[in-house]
Amino acid sequence: MKPYPALPYLSGNFAPILAECDADDVIVEGEMPRDLNGALYRTGPNPMFPPLGQSHHWFLGEGMVHALFVEDGRVRYRNRWVRTEQYNAQRKAGRRLYSSGFGLDAGDPSVAGKPRNVANTNIVPHAGKLFALDEGSSPVAMNPETLETVGTSTFDGRYKGPMTAHPKIDAETGEMFFFGYMAAGPATPDIAFNVVDRTGALTRSERFKAPFAAMVHDFAITDRHVVFPIFPATIDVQRIMKGGPLIAWDPDQGSHIGIMARSGSTADIRWFKGPPVYVYHPLNAYSEGDTVVVDLCVYPRVPLFPNADGSRAAPDLGDAPAHLERWTFDLAANTDQFKRDTLDDLATEFPRIDDRWTGLKHRHGYTGAILGEKLPGSPFDTIVHFDLAKGTRETWTPGPGDFVMEPVVAPRGPGEANGYVLTLVYRSAENRSDLVVLDAQNVKAGPIATAKLPVRVPFGFHGNWLAAA
Ligand SMILES: [Fe+2]
Repeated sequence: MKPYPALPYLSGNFAPILAECDADDVIVEGEMPRDLNGALYRTGPNPMFPPLGQSHHWFLGEGMVHALFVEDGRVRYRNRWVRTEQYNAQRKAGRRLYSSGFGLDAGDPSVAGKPRNVANTNIVPHAGKLFALDEGSSPVAMNPETLETVGTSTFDGRYKGPMTAHPKIDAETGEMFFFGYMAAGPATPDIAFNVVDRTGALTRSERFKAPFAAMVHDFAITDRHVVFPIFPATIDVQRIMKGGPLIAWDPDQGSHIGIMARSGSTADIRWFKGPPVYVYHPLNAYSEGDTVVVDLCVYPRVPLFPNADGSRAAPDLGDAPAHLERWTFDLAANTDQFKRDTLDDLATEFPRIDDRWTGLKHRHGYTGAILGEKLPGSPFDTIVHFDLAKGTRETWTPGPGDFVMEPVVAPRGPGEANGYVLTLVYRSAENRSDLVVLDAQNVKAGPIATAKLPVRVPFGFHGNWLAAA
């Protein structure tokens, strides 16, 4: 194929790798803990062919999954593209057929009207299955060991719509909660809400209308409530018909946060209103008395998308990073307002907790952060551990030219954040990647063990730890 154009999200460690491989035993520096047994799955965009034109969006590269199997101190590595219909059609054709831009650059006529599925945003184990997810498509099941693609999952035909890349799993019940936006078709404000039980059976499926159609990336659950945040990155048919952008920053619409009792239905959603901001990722949420508390990484404006009139964001706003806030909703008060508190001013993203505390009152949070120079694409140079009970934070920065990815917590024993923090580190001087294992209670001490991966892992989105059975 021809070279990829020198666009920012196709360069450096955003550039795809083109090999799929297996490495049965990689070099480990330090001692990989013997009580760390399982698999770390990571995914991100890895465009399989150059873009059709000069327009390429980071979010639209075909997903590649990287699996790091940790067993008795050893590490195995495997990577595979997700074999979606999009992938298979393009591999057969030997070229790009689907556009990788949000603009009007049409794809090949042979795929006209066929939905895009890049399956590149998250890779989530549940009920013995492994789901490759992007928020616009149905989940794609993969074999957790071989990473072979099994195919589109419809939960026995009970739900055929899109699925968020950020389902939430209640650690106590084992249920997986998820939503899908544009559930009634492109640019509709309809949102589907579904629950899958611990055996993988879909037990609940409802629909509601959001205040407007928008890019809805993530949500939150507590042990008693479900939180649907709608931010003004709108999807407007009228605008699209006039040649405007598909997804755009539309601050006049404000932010709308829907809260529903888990015991109720989507007809009972209560909507709170706030100023226009954007959140890709909540850290976690919990219910306490009559309040619902949500911690989230808040941007002053949606990154990576234009204004509603098609113009680019002013750099001071469009490139502004997110920081951690706590939003408190008082369900006993007769108001549609909520309380906003800044927890920390650091530039942070990719917030994670010990997933066993999903929906419960958490004390510990982990994020990526930028402490050094803000570089193109804003890769994160530091892992942060927030102790929200003490109001303190500790950091680990691997070093100049090194960049971290989302921190994933792998439990070790009982108690919140009793475990390890796993992240991938890109070493730009060597153009290669490592798996780094930190102590979740002492990240500042640096790596307990470092596994030197056989291939570079491009900057991606999300991952999860699946403990060995
Ligand atoms: Fe995400």
